Amino acid sequence: LEAQLNIDDKLTTVCELLQSTVPYYDWVGFYFRNGDKEELKLKAFAGEPTDHTIIPFGKGICGQVAVSNQNFVVPDVKAQDNYIACSIYVKAEIVIPLFVDGVNVGQIDIDSHTADPFSEEDVTFLEFVNKKVAEIMK
Ligand code: SME
Repeated sequence: LEAQLNIDDKLTTVCELLQSTVPYYDWVGFYFRNGDKEELKLKAFAGEPTDHTIIPFGKGICGQVAVSNQNFVVPDVKAQDNYIACSIYVKAEIVIPLFVDGVNVGQIDIDSHTADPFSEEDVTFLEFVNKKVAEIMK
């Protein structure tokens, strides 16, 4: 249990660091598979609290990534039909799956109030962050 609390604290620290350092990262969170259920659960975040702490597989950008195992970069959330709005200010979103021993166990999700802010650099950087997080989850 102590080790578990420690991971949650570390994830929150990562979220806070990313959100406060990158100007166009307005909300940063980690969702993980909720036990053996076909749903994601919010485990740590920085930014405004969201109502969407549980997201069924397949629903929204996050739920789609849980199923596809692929990065999902959304330059304009208004152009998405399978999208869950957390805040009226959000213009763009990026979701990068997090693999532990090759298994998609969760994801980092970032919302931006800036239009089309994410580049290949964000993808590479966030894949690196997820690899580091995967190491502490083992
Ligand atoms: N927009 C996400 C839901 C999570 S909030 O961004 C925090 C989605 O469509 O899955």
